Amino acid sequence: MCGIIGYNGHKNSIKVLINGLKALEYRGYDSAGIAYYNGKRMEIIKTSGRIFNLEKKLKPNIQSNIGIGHTRWATHGKPNDINSHPHRMGKFTIVHNGIIENYEELKKGLIKKGYKFKTETDSEVIAALLDFIYSTEKDVLKTISLLEEKLIGAYALGILCDDEPNILYATRKDSPLIVGIGNKENFIASDVPAILKYTNQYIIIEDNEIVKIDDKVTVYKNLNETEKKVLTFEGNLEVAEKNGFDHFMLKEIHEEPSVIKNTTEPFLADGLESLIQNMPNFSQYKRIEIVGCGSAYHAGLVGKAIIEKYTNTPVAVYIASEFRYQKLFTDKETLVIFISQSGETADTLASLRKIKSQNIDSLAIVNVVGSSLAREAKNTIYIKAGPEISVATTKAYLAQVAVLSLIALNLGYKQKIISENKANDIIKSFIKLPTYIEDIIDKNYKQIAKTLYKKNICFYIGRGIDYALSMEGSLKLKEISYIVSMCYPAGELKHGTISLIDKGTNVISVITDKTIADKTLSNIKEVKSRGAVVTLVTTEEIANDFADVNHKVIIPKTNDFINPMIAAIPLQLISYETAKLRGCDIDKPKNLAKSVTVE
Ligand code: F6R
Repeated sequence: MCGIIGYNGHKNSIKVLINGLKALEYRGYDSAGIAYYNGKRMEIIKTSGRIFNLEKKLKPNIQSNIGIGHTRWATHGKPNDINSHPHRMGKFTIVHNGIIENYEELKKGLIKKGYKFKTETDSEVIAALLDFIYSTEKDVLKTISLLEEKLIGAYALGILCDDEPNILYATRKDSPLIVGIGNKENFIASDVPAILKYTNQYIIIEDNEIVKIDDKVTVYKNLNETEKKVLTFEGNLEVAEKNGFDHFMLKEIHEEPSVIKNTTEPFLADGLESLIQNMPNFSQYKRIEIVGCGSAYHAGLVGKAIIEKYTNTPVAVYIASEFRYQKLFTDKETLVIFISQSGETADTLASLRKIKSQNIDSLAIVNVVGSSLAREAKNTIYIKAGPEISVATTKAYLAQVAVLSLIALNLGYKQKIISENKANDIIKSFIKLPTYIEDIIDKNYKQIAKTLYKKNICFYIGRGIDYALSMEGSLKLKEISYIVSMCYPAGELKHGTISLIDKGTNVISVITDKTIADKTLSNIKEVKSRGAVVTLVTTEEIANDFADVNHKVIIPKTNDFINPMIAAIPLQLISYETAKLRGCDIDKPKNLAKSVTVE
């Protein structure tokens, strides 16, 4: 989604803004622009397409110490030059992340007052509204606080005013914003990677706070100065670089062994004792609901399968964009778990707020430290995936599954369904998990990709937990390779979809659950006999019983708690290799955004 960077300091702002925008590229965008004050006036340079197009438009030797920049992911209006940010009206120049829901109504009112709009965006209205309020208030801070009363929707804003050209303002509501604190230079950004080249010190801005950056940073709440805690980002720029890998996605898959180690270690370091002490106690809840979007939702489905198999707690999993508008069946005995890499996904956040308004307990499983979900949920467990740059998630998904699997282990043990001995064995297997993952990463998936990449359609089938894993495999393939990929519970195929299976149709099946392996194996026979080309991801013991497929990826037979994570890796790598053969922009698939902060 859109990205914001802003700078006020002693360096040339153009370079800082461009570097910041490049660091935000991973969020997904279709146009980019900057505005800067050159000592005489505000200048705006913007363009559709990539940041290098913007760089080509910039004259050399521009002198400026203050500016704002933006990568746009089009929502209102085409991704063309004119709709790109920054937008300017009267004395105000702005960049905006989010969506203004009442922009049409505001626009009509402003047109009547004489404002002429050039773009189709909702964002241009903000610049006009600021200018209009300022024409009577004559005070930028007051103007921004009054603006907030008029806007309905989500926004993070970087604001420059012609009358105070050396001051950078910013504010937010329901869209993330941080302030980077440097040495005689300060920044605003939609997330930390944008400022990491210059500083790892940052402040998280809360809804309706206003930031004023002159030679220092002042944050206002209700127009009064408010104290903010300066945080240190734990990590370095290296995580935002490819380190010799062709793509961030591949690099992030190779990070999975260490991500799993870092995520699970706090719960395993001293065996069962650590799990009991460090995992919050969920045994008082009679039901669990899990809410997330995309891969986070899929991680929830895997979690449901493990929790329900090893505990007495029923689990329902919901897509956040549905959950937020559904009737709630939660009560005080329900725990709602929210899963999100970014911690800023608009639908997931709205779902959390919905259950909080009913005083229902929540747990967030989140990657980004200090993100909105992490701050607003009752309890938070951080996965330790580090910044994930590739739009398609891999390591964060795996770490989400790991946490859910540990929740299942803890709960099953507390409910006395898992014995102490068994729990200790499972913990030992978790400690070996990074090595299993390393081994499975090292296999060769190019041959399978060669079967897939020329076809425009592919099916995934599985049952139970393997259906949940297949859903993620299918999403991964379609989002990065643009192959139409559909996933079905294996037994469901014959109720209609099997009519699409022809000679040469690719079918990928996952079987890790021995108890229902035979059922899925007979579904494989059904598609095979209609000419399908089948790739089977399965464990050693099942593979030995069944030879009749075109490709087999064999994973070790471990246990139900860690097997799903091992099985997920081949699915990620098959998608990666296929997208590579198709020449796709793997880290930045078209139309997609890393952090979906609008509804
Ligand atoms: C797919 C993918 C998305 C995200 C989804 C939720 O590879 O990355 O489906 O999983 O947009 O995002 P978060 O986890 O940030 O809430």
